[in-house]
Amino acid sequence: KRVAILISGGGSNMVSLVDSMTGDHPARPCLVLSNDAGAGGLKKAADRGIATAAVDHRPFKGDRAAFEAELLKPLEQAQPDIVCLAGFMRVLTGDFVSRFQGRMLNIHPSLLPKYKGLNTHARAIAAGDIEHGCSVHEVTAALDDGPILGQARLNIEAGDTPETLAARVLTYEHRLYPAVLRRFAGNDRTPVLLP
Ligand code: GRF
Repeated sequence: KRVAILISGGGSNMVSLVDSMTGDHPARPCLVLSNDAGAGGLKKAADRGIATAAVDHRPFKGDRAAFEAELLKPLEQAQPDIVCLAGFMRVLTGDFVSRFQGRMLNIHPSLLPKYKGLNTHARAIAAGDIEHGCSVHEVTAALDDGPILGQARLNIEAGDTPETLAARVLTYEHRLYPAVLRRFAGNDRTPVLLP
């Protein structure tokens, strides 16, 4: 299976996914694509010998369809079987998502369906939640919606700030996403629940 990974920044989740696709893993990375040519993850991908591309979203201003038409070019050329959004910070339209329906995944730093959208860690702390975590879900037209394919849970500790919590959640993301991809690439959609 060919896996394309979309990033916007450092790409630590992309690195975890790429480094997991070895040996008898049924998938291999075929493209790392970013909406920012300066994304640090692009160099990490290139250093691993993976094809990269970037389509800057800024020249398109609010014209989401025009940006996505450009984004689709390298993506379709790579002929992915699976598309993983990994720290990808642009909202995709239903049209774009529909082209990959059932084979596009995303990781979100909350225990969905709680805290869709941004600032998930600050919101969980402000709500006084004890538990928090991250989720991998199939991407549908609705933001941070779609069937859950995996979740990792952890406790919010006394004194946690959004930054300390985000850093701890990120380490769980790096374990959860590869575990979900391995199952998904093997056509197994049984949710991965950690611990
Ligand atoms: C992190 O905030 C992570 O929680 C979310 O995307 C952001 C960047 O991740 N999934 P990455 O290091 O670019 O993978």
